[in-house]
Amino acid sequence: MAPTPNPRVIYKAVPKEYPIPGEHLVYESDSASIDLDNVDLHGGALVRTVYISLDPYLRGTLRDPSVQSYRAANPLGKPMKSRTISKVIRSEDPDFKSGDYVLSLSSDWSLHAVLTKANGLSKLQKPTNASLSTYAGVLGMPGLTAFLSLRAFGRLKAGETLFVSTAAGVVGSVVAQLAKLAGLKVIGSTGDDSKVEWLKEELKLDVAFNYKTTKVADVLREHGPIDIYYDNVGGETLDVAFQHINKFGRVILCGFASEYNKGDRPSYGIKNLSSQTISKTLSINGFVISDITDKEGLDAFEKEYRPLVEKGQIKYQETRYQGLEKTPEAFLAMFKGQNFGKTVVVVSDE
Ligand SMILES: NC(=O)c1ccc[n+]([C@@H]2O[C@H](COP(=O)([O-])OP(=O)(O)OC[C@H]3O[C@@H](n4cnc5c(N)ncnc54)[C@H](OP(=O)(O)O)[C@@H]3O)[C@@H](O)[C@H]2O)c1
Repeated sequence: MAPTPNPRVIYKAVPKEYPIPGEHLVYESDSASIDLDNVDLHGGALVRTVYISLDPYLRGTLRDPSVQSYRAANPLGKPMKSRTISKVIRSEDPDFKSGDYVLSLSSDWSLHAVLTKANGLSKLQKPTNASLSTYAGVLGMPGLTAFLSLRAFGRLKAGETLFVSTAAGVVGSVVAQLAKLAGLKVIGSTGDDSKVEWLKEELKLDVAFNYKTTKVADVLREHGPIDIYYDNVGGETLDVAFQHINKFGRVILCGFASEYNKGDRPSYGIKNLSSQTISKTLSINGFVISDITDKEGLDAFEKEYRPLVEKGQIKYQETRYQGLEKTPEAFLAMFKGQNFGKTVVVVSDE
């Protein structure tokens, strides 16, 4: 077969603030081609991308490569990369055969790709009562993040109160539901009234509010104090949480979405850190999920957590964008809070 176009999304320029479609991330329909019958597989597999997972941490890979971080910068002028779920077309690796679905931890935003185990390739089984795309969300890295970080740092006790920000996102909503299942009172914040409604009506949070229209301090004054703050946003919300947390409280630092697209504007300076941490004997834990993932944790995730999702006891939302060309737009929308739950791009049919 003659080479066919291989559409892709290229990382063209370092964004100062928000990543703008067509400027920083550019869809190209025919700048690359691939010979599906003859392309060299290097011992791996030729795949067709089905889902692209969009995650907030990817914003950190859009930086000047000279700036050090725990995760490598995406090279400029090259396709953007993230976790993907794909279907194998042909394979030289005995672990994968044509028709298998695979998860890659790092794959180009392109229609086709050649992947090897160096891309963190693993075979996927279709989950019970759920779409394959849940391996990007509630059954994937974000679900694992919520489950393992609560297990490592939460010390959940029935009757205590947990506050979680970005409560309608994948990580936040799983944290909220696991805490409810453990008998805690749960307060959740989000930036949209329809998400507030879902948190109250479907997830049965004790308190849910829109941080854009209601002050965090007012809610925590009325419904706190809290024992655990699960932080997905950083900034002022974190500062306020310190003031309303009980003695021996736990603060779990998972993300700082309020700072991701600030560019050269100064970070929010936390004022209550030292005074509150010392006087209240607080435990504060930041973490990167890969650093707290081990075999025991993965086994517990499969045994204790997966059935909760498959039986519908953990609920979730997903925002789907149809077509690879929508990826830059979907990526920006996630940072504007226009997604609801997991953001995935459907590149091709399962
Ligand atoms: N530490 C780790 O290893 C680890 C692993 C996975 C994820 N994380 C972090 O966990 C957090 C949630 O991840 P997720 O996958 O569940 O993503 P997500 O909920 O899809 O994240 C996007 C959401 O973040 C909120 N947001 C965006 N900009 C914001 C801003 N300026 N201020 C406040 N909120 C803002 C919006 O929700 P609202 O509409 O509610 O504002 C938006 O819908 C992220 O911060 C992520 O970086 C950390």
